[in-house]
This record gives sequence, structure tokens and C-alpha cells, in this order.
Amino acid sequence: MSLSVTLPAVRDHGLGADDLLPQSLHEFLGCPTPDAWIAWALDNHEILLIDHAQCEKKAASTAMSLLYRYVDQPLLLSKMSQLAREELLHFEQVVNLMERRGVAYRHLTASRYAEGLRRHLRANDPERLIDVLIIGALIEARSCERFARLIPYLDEELARFYRTLVKSEGRHYEDYLLLARQQTSVSIDERIAVFVAKEAALMTTPDTDFRFHSGIPAS
Ligand SMILES: [Fe+2]
Ligand SMILES: [Fe+2]
Repeated sequence: MSLSVTLPAVRDHGLGADDLLPQSLHEFLGCPTPDAWIAWALDNHEILLIDHAQCEKKAASTAMSLLYRYVDQPLLLSKMSQLAREELLHFEQVVNLMERRGVAYRHLTASRYAEGLRRHLRANDPERLIDVLIIGALIEARSCERFARLIPYLDEELARFYRTLVKSEGRHYEDYLLLARQQTSVSIDERIAVFVAKEAALMTTPDTDFRFHSGIPAS
């Protein structure tokens, strides 16, 4: 399916997406975010902010649940503790930005994205944990890529905020991947490839509602 989309002119914030994203992250993801999603996001400014707040809160809670479940893994405990704090800080920053812009926080249904990945989790550890960590890496990498892709079209305040997020979500992606590889002495590349393909399918196929991790508009 090919969707031709015209995006608005870019603003000059000095950096394009390719300058912001590490090469390893480009290579990790199965596809770039389609232009159709960028255009959809620019038409849904309020939902973008509200769902972004939701995603930060969810990221903190995922990290917290790993803290409870895997108490025998010191590196995981320190990385996830730091990550949960950072995600909650991001959450506060988005909520503050919404308040300044008069965007009311309301409940939104979750997109199909996280569940579309988690339904492929294997049942038992260590395989289950490896899958959870690979999915964590993918969600962080995609979020990082989407922030970077949006920056050229945003006002200065939001662009500046997203630039700081590109840095931290990029680090979170690396931490999740490191923790996933640390769970086993054998290669997990094949398993990563399975999830990368599933994630790319969720990014490039039609989706019903606009959310931060939606696919492309259905019509
Ligand atoms: Fe975050
Ligand atoms: Fe993150």
C-alpha cells in the first residue's frame, strides 16, 4: 500500500532526525516511521501530548514491575530503578507542558501496539524475560525515532523538550538491549528479528485511532 502524504515545511531547529538518532538505532528498527503517521500526529496535537503522557507513565510502571519480579539481578535493578525515575520525570514534564497549553488530561484507550507485541511473549523464564526486554528495547527505540522525526515540524518549546527525550529514550533502548543479551550466553539475534518484523508490521499497517504508537491512518 502506498500513501502519498505532503508534510508541512520543516522549521529550522538546527538538527534533523538523522543527526539526532544514533546509527545503531536506525539499523535496529525494521522501518522508519511512515510520513502518513507524521502527518496524522501533526493533525492530532492534543492526543499526541495526552497519549505521550500515558506512555511515560506506562514505561515507568513496566520498569517497576521488573523491579518486583527479578530481585536477584543487580544490573537490572539499578537500570530499571533509574529508568522508572526518568520516565516519571518525563511524565511530569509532559503534564506540565499540557497545562501550559490548556490541554485537559483525559483517559484514552491504549493503542494496539504494546499488546500486539506482548501477545508473542514466550511463557516461561528466562525466555519470557528476554522477550519482555526485547520489546522494551523496541518501544524505547521507536519512541526515540518518533520524537526525532517530529522535531523538525514542531514549535521551539516542544522541539527542545523532544530533543532531551531523544537522548534519554535512546539510552533506555540500549539498556534494555544490554539486559536482554545478558540473560543468556547464546545469541538472541533471531528472537530480536522476530519482534523487529512484528513491530514494523504494526507501524506500517492501517490503524483505527491516532496514538503515539499507531500504525498509519486507515482511510
Ligand atoms: Fe520517557
Ligand atoms: Fe524511556
